[in-house]
Amino acid sequence: MADFPVTRELSTEEIDGFVRKFDHHDPNFGKDPYPVYDRLVRECPIKHSDNYGGFWLFTGHEEVLWGYQNYQLLSTSPSVSVPAGQGAKRPMLPLEVDPPVHTKYRTLLSPVFAPNRMRALEPEIRTLCNDLIDSFIDKGECEFISEFAKPLPTQMFVNMLGIPLEEAEKFTEWNHGLLHGVADDPDGSKRAAIGVATRGRLAALLEERKAKRDNDIISVLIDSEVDGEKLDDEHLLDIAYLLFLAGLDTVQGAMGYQFAYLAAHSEQRDRMIAEPEVIPRAVEELLRWEPLVTAGRTCTRDFDYKGISFREGERVVFVSRAAGRDPRVYDNPEIVDFDRPPGRTLAFAAGPHRCVGSHLARLELTIAHQEILRRIPSYRLKPGTTVTSQGGNVAGLKELWLQWDV
Ligand code: HEM
Repeated sequence: MADFPVTRELSTEEIDGFVRKFDHHDPNFGKDPYPVYDRLVRECPIKHSDNYGGFWLFTGHEEVLWGYQNYQLLSTSPSVSVPAGQGAKRPMLPLEVDPPVHTKYRTLLSPVFAPNRMRALEPEIRTLCNDLIDSFIDKGECEFISEFAKPLPTQMFVNMLGIPLEEAEKFTEWNHGLLHGVADDPDGSKRAAIGVATRGRLAALLEERKAKRDNDIISVLIDSEVDGEKLDDEHLLDIAYLLFLAGLDTVQGAMGYQFAYLAAHSEQRDRMIAEPEVIPRAVEELLRWEPLVTAGRTCTRDFDYKGISFREGERVVFVSRAAGRDPRVYDNPEIVDFDRPPGRTLAFAAGPHRCVGSHLARLELTIAHQEILRRIPSYRLKPGTTVTSQGGNVAGLKELWLQWDV
């Protein structure tokens, strides 16, 4: 089953164990989660896990889509992270509020990330990509995650917020600590401290922009109005904090998986070189195959769905990584097929909280493939190295060593 640079396959006992007691933070699970997802989606598209105080898992495509759409029953407020505790006490906007309040903030944010505004960023993304490629191309190898997949989205983020580029690395570390520090931080105190530091830096930036506007997202948001009123500082920071958490690790994770897959599948890469118009479709298909995000909800009241009774206050997680491989929707779901008819991808969710940054994410991924294929067409996995994956609420790769001819 493992047609990907999987470093180790789980034993049958381990798969049984993870099916019984799902734990997407367990490092062993992170290394090779696909057989577990496969079992879950085929055998039990909705399942209860006793881990972390108990929660429901939705793994089927239909079930995850239904869950994302039914925000009246399955709310993002209070915030659900399994396990709990990601540092921020206030709701991140607009993710952790439901309609109708959500709609106000979403209406404000959507134009900032509209497709035409994002397309205007194309030259800037291309320049950043090429600057990063310049830094390693002559070596004939790179550790792709730290040298490309992490810096690119962080540099875009700091540019869009008007923060000096030299601070990008610090934001990468904070982001990683918040999203992947669960195992080393059982009581959440480290993540809370990082949350405070990040918010503090964003607050300082807000003060700078209040004194003098610039061509950045914070300046746009300062002058925006919700229901005829300007946003106060705390709400502005709630939005900026979410952009920081939502837009960095996700793009990095997608890049890691996509480039690792292509490094091991030269025939697919050759096709992208010969037919560049296939690249956006390749990005889409690779996002179906590995959609990274596990999202959380809380039941707002008692309700029944598919013969199961859910109780108010119970937690639910949507596992798009399983839903993207649901055999009820996709033929041979584990195969990456750029000619697959376009389906309803759940990588960017659905319903009111559908990813606001999806146009930016697609653009960053597309341009990254275009530029790396143009300049380093012969990249491949470096012999003797292993590709290590990590789980968590946003999956990603820890290391990916690539090599090419110079
Ligand atoms: C491949 C990259 C990305 C993936 C897979 C992804 C995935 C997602 C998913 C699944 C959600 C819904 C979460 C939920 O409902 O609980 C979401 C929401 C969101 N994403 Fe993304 N995302 C990506 C990139 C980005 C980028 C680049 C940004 C912005 C810079 C961004 C900003 C947001 C925001 C603000 C929300 C909340 C929207 C709302 O609540 O209305 N994302 N994303």
